[in-house]
This record gives sequence, structure tokens and C-alpha cells, in this order.
Amino acid sequence: MDRLPGFRDFYPEPLPHPNVASADARQYIFDKWRATARLYGFREYDGPPLEPLELYTTKSGAEIVGQLYNFTDKGGREIALRPEMTPTLARMAAAHERNYKKPIKWFAIPQLFRYERQQKGRLREHFQFNADILGETDLAADAELIALLIDTLRSFGLTAADFVIRLSSRNAWQEFFNQRCPDSSKAYAFYQIIDKLERDSADDSRKALDQLGFSLDEINSFITTGAPTAELAAILQNLAARGLAEFVSVDYRVIRGLAYYTGPVFEAFDKKGEFRAIAGGGRYDGLVKLISGGKVDLPALGFGFGDVVLFELLKERGLLPKFDAALDCFCLIEDETLRDDSLNLIQDLRSAGYAVDYSLTPAKSDKQFKRARELGATRTVILERTSAGELSAKIKKPRNSRGKNHRPRRYSRSFRRNLLMRSTERFSSRVENYVKYRPGYPAALVELLQRQCGLAPGAVVADIGSGTGILTELLLKNDAMVFGIEPNGPMREAGERLLAGYPNFHSVNGTAEATTLEDHSVDLITAAQAFHWFNAAKTRQEFVRVLKPGGRVALIWNDRKTDGPFQEAYESLLLAYGTDYAQVNHRNIDVKAIASFFSPNPFASATLPNAQSMDLDGLTGRLLSSSYAPEPGHPNHEPMLRDLRALFATHQVSGQVTFDYDTLVYFGGLSAG
Ligand code: HAM
Repeated sequence: MDRLPGFRDFYPEPLPHPNVASADARQYIFDKWRATARLYGFREYDGPPLEPLELYTTKSGAEIVGQLYNFTDKGGREIALRPEMTPTLARMAAAHERNYKKPIKWFAIPQLFRYERQQKGRLREHFQFNADILGETDLAADAELIALLIDTLRSFGLTAADFVIRLSSRNAWQEFFNQRCPDSSKAYAFYQIIDKLERDSADDSRKALDQLGFSLDEINSFITTGAPTAELAAILQNLAARGLAEFVSVDYRVIRGLAYYTGPVFEAFDKKGEFRAIAGGGRYDGLVKLISGGKVDLPALGFGFGDVVLFELLKERGLLPKFDAALDCFCLIEDETLRDDSLNLIQDLRSAGYAVDYSLTPAKSDKQFKRARELGATRTVILERTSAGELSAKIKKPRNSRGKNHRPRRYSRSFRRNLLMRSTERFSSRVENYVKYRPGYPAALVELLQRQCGLAPGAVVADIGSGTGILTELLLKNDAMVFGIEPNGPMREAGERLLAGYPNFHSVNGTAEATTLEDHSVDLITAAQAFHWFNAAKTRQEFVRVLKPGGRVALIWNDRKTDGPFQEAYESLLLAYGTDYAQVNHRNIDVKAIASFFSPNPFASATLPNAQSMDLDGLTGRLLSSSYAPEPGHPNHEPMLRDLRALFATHQVSGQVTFDYDTLVYFGGLSAG
């Protein structure tokens, strides 16, 4: 049996047929709508999909009433499927407005039903993002809503080249009408004709206008020459102050088809004019009073933004991401005697926040592997029993960037133990993120180390807290002999993997306080992003012991700048969600501590500019590589990522955000104090 015309079936991607809709794209759209609404401080509400018919016959206007799916229910009530959300919102707000501080800022994503003539961009069911403000007469609210609409469109990657908000005024048209026609009962019919001017033929419009006593020419002249009203000018000024002027233009072709609008109105259109309106809204100051039978009088305004045109537009502009099952991990069960242990591991991984799938029934290994790839799993994990009878887990990446199979990576015993431990440290995702997403260091740092700190071919360098090897690699590239001192196992192993090709690299399981290096064996000691973790007194003693006479110490930090809107928002996110950000933030290190470390020797310092541009994956990885970022399973983890996505959506330019850093270097000699 076929589905009803104008309705959609939503399937997970990849889509089985061009004639069906994407459940993944729908979720993607909903996520962006929610994220941007929350950025603007809107709270989510919902109402029933069925309402009394009367709710719409009161004030929505004849057009939408003509499109209602309505019927008499078994109790004899006249009811309708909701064709729009605004009357429901007016009813809900009127019922409990006293419990909410004004202005009320609410959003919803209802599915709406209209028996419309089917055409491009218009179906008989659609999802509509509604954002409304109640209880505010000031035009600042109108501008706030339009800004939200613009930022929502921008969060999908659309730019001023793609869309424009046409701003108009029901008041201006009402005045136009009143000056020429004393019969206010004809006003709604007049608005309807103006609303359809662009879609109807000039002849049809002229005839309809003639009947009401208007000429098409005077209408066209008003549209082309009408100056912005004072209220529109105020909205434009507010938007210009936000840097959003280029997204809006005054356009009196817009009047809005619904009957209840009272003031500024607006619609979003694609710039090429290929699609129907993307979104529309405006002020409706009288609706709450009308729907509450005069009991509650609340000014209100809002917009509705459907998913149908938006989807078509994003598809046409190539702005939809590729969707897959977004699995973090597929567990291969090749040895059926390990199925129970595998199930146990799978449950552990899931409770740590990883999306994991596996074959429910025994299957050939290559079939399981193929399925892992089809599902887009970023890794596979397989349990094996070692010759000593212990369980160990092997992790593989099913494909590399070129889509070929990855060489299986064998992780050390400690790493496998970590994986099986009941701990969110499994996969040491922090380490992976560290490797991929930590900022590097500027070329000027190498020059400084060469000129001032004795970095030269053959020099012996101890890189303390060498971690995943970011600075170490720079030193090795300058032909130094480098000892990477790193106490953290997974970090050290990541460094070893990165630097496996450098014969001059020596990985050492040691600490700053006990490096294991020989007395007076080192020309230069570096510590990048690490000094704040050390016990300064013991470290000092150890450094004096291992440094050659005249040897140098360089303490290095990438200090993320916190000025500018994006950096400030990121900083607030860290303060809100970081487990102990305020305490471990290395910015808390004071120069006095450094001075007393070098004392009695003098030390010098340098500030070198550095930057890191990232896409959303990069920004997420960058955040998760920080020790204060809550891990999967922590209650702050998901909310933090959600907010991060919203933050990215707001601040990205061409899909990238940039962190600016100062690379700070404090350097000098050390002598027994
Ligand atoms: P509307 O102009 O009727 O306004 O609809 C707003 C948006 O919903 C349209 O711009 C379009 O994106 C989408 N839409 C409407 N009808 C269809 C359809 N048949 N198929 C697909 N998409 C459709 C309202 O509904 C107002 N209640 C909006 C509002 C909220 N005003 C104040 N607050």
C-alpha cells in the first residue's frame, strides 16, 4: 500500500530510493535548530497535534482554514490536525503566562499538516521550527528574532550569497489600505492578493484588485518606492549593530498570508529565487487576547521555518554532510567462545558513552569486517586470548583516509589492560585527540632555541613531558639527539609511534623529578605544556644534575588567547563544564614561580604568535584532548559537546574556527642554588 500523497517516509541513509526522505538529514536539521535556539536563550515547548477546530477558525484566516485536515471525533468534537503552531502557543501562553517571567522566549519543532496543492517545497506535512517571543513590545525583540533566523540559516553553512530576509510591515500596508478603502472587512482579502502577487499572474492580480477598488499600478509603485517605516528602520539599525545588515532588505512585496499579523513581518528567501519562502513570521500583538477571550493581553511575535525548502536548498548547495551510522566501534567476534566476554566488553564500552555494534549471530570474519565498514565504524575491536590465557583487545581502524584497510595496530599490554578496565580511559581517546588536535609550535620557536638555547645538530636534548611528541619531533628535525621523558604510558606510546622513524629519538619512562638520565649529559632541557605539573624544587635539583655546564632550560607554553567573541565563548564553556579547569588552567602559573625556579640565574622570555584553524571535528578533538574536559560517561560530557557544536555553528567562517595563541618561552641557565 502506498503512502498518502504529500507525506514522507523517513529512512536511515543510505537511502533506498530517491523518492523517500532522509531520517538522518531530518535529525541534522533538528539538531541545528535546537542548538541555535538555545544559543539565543529560547526554551523548548510542545503542544498536542490535534486541537479544537475553533482554534484556527478564530483568527488564522480563510486560507489556512481551507487547508485543514479536520473531522468530528467519536465524542462529537470538531477537531483539526494542527496546520501551524502559533494558535497553540497563544493558548498555552495565555493559560500559564503568570508562571513565566517576560519576555517569554520559546521554541518548538512541531509536525504540521495542511491539505495544500502539492508543489515544489510544499507538502501536506512538514516539520516547522517555531521561535516566538511573548510579552515584549520593543522592536529589539523583532530584531532578536530576525537575528536568530539569520544565525539558524548560517549554522547550515548558508551565507549572504544564498539567502535574504525580506522585511516588511503589515502596518504600512494597513495604512495604505485604510487611506484608500473605508471597508475594513475587505482588508484580509486585500492582504491575500498582495501575498500572492509574485505567484499569481499580473492579470489575475489586476482583476482581483479591481474588484476591491485598487489598481495594480499603485500597488507596484508602493512596493518599489515605499520608504522603510520608523519601526523597520529601528530593526535594521539593531541588526546592523550585530553585523547582520547584509542579510536583510526592506521589501514591501512581503505582507504574510495569515490574518493575525499586526506589525513588522518578514520572510526568508533563497537569493536565486528558485524556491518558495524558506521561513516567515512577524508580530501578532492581538492573537493571545483573542484566543484567551480577552483574559490575557500579551504582545507577541515569532517565525515558522519549515524543513522542506531548507532541505532542498541545502541539497542543491551541497551543504548536507554525509551521513552514516556514526559508530565509534564495531566489535568483531571471531572466536565464538569469547562471545560472552565480548558482550561484557560491548556493554562496558556503551556505558562509557561509545556507540558500539556487533554481529548478533555468528558470522564469518570478513562479513563482520565488511559490516563494520558499511556502518562507518571508526574502529573495530576484537577480543583474543593470549598464549598465557589472558584476554586482550586488539583495535583496528577499518579504513584509512584513502578508504584502504589499515595495518592492524597492536597496542601494548598496558593499553589493552586499560581497554578492559572499567574506566572511561579506555581507547585513551584523550591520547588520540592529543596526537591529532593539539596545536604545533611556530617556526620562530625553533629559531629561538637555536640562537639562544644551543639547539644544534648533535646537541643532546631532554624533552620533559614529551607526551605525544609534538615538540620532540621539531627538535628531532633539527638533528638533535632527543630523550623524550614521559611518565604516562598511553601518551608515551603515542609519541613512540609518531617518532618511530627518527633514530635519534629515545623514549624514556621517567618523570621531571627523576629523569633516569646520566649526570651532566644534556645540553638543553625543554618542557612544553608541562612545567605546571612538576614539583618545582625536586625538578630543579634533577635538572641541575643532568644539565651539562652551561646547559639551558626552556619552559614553553602555547597560551590560548581569550579575547574575541569565539575565544570568549570557548573560555566560558571550559569554565562551565571543565572538571577542574579553573585549578589546572596553566595560565594560573605565575612568572614568580618561574623566576624562583631559575634563581639565582637570570632568565629571559619571548612571546611568539601562533594560530590553529580547525573544523568542527578538530575543535571537538582539541577540547577532548584537554585534561579538564569531561570524558564520555561523565554527566557534563554530552552537554559540553552539544554546546560546543552550537558555539562552532555560530563562530565558524567557511567551516573553520581559529584559536590564536601566544607561544610563551621562558629560558635561561640553571646552577646549583
Ligand atoms: P507560514 O508562512 O504559514 O507561517 O509557514 C512558515 C514556513 O513553514 C514557510 O515559510 C515554510 O518554510 C513552511 N511551510 C508552510 N507550509 C508548508 C507546506 N505545506 N509544506 C512545507 N513547508 C511549509 C506560519 O505557519 C506561522 N504560524 C509562523 C509564525 C510563528 N508566525 C509567528 N510565529
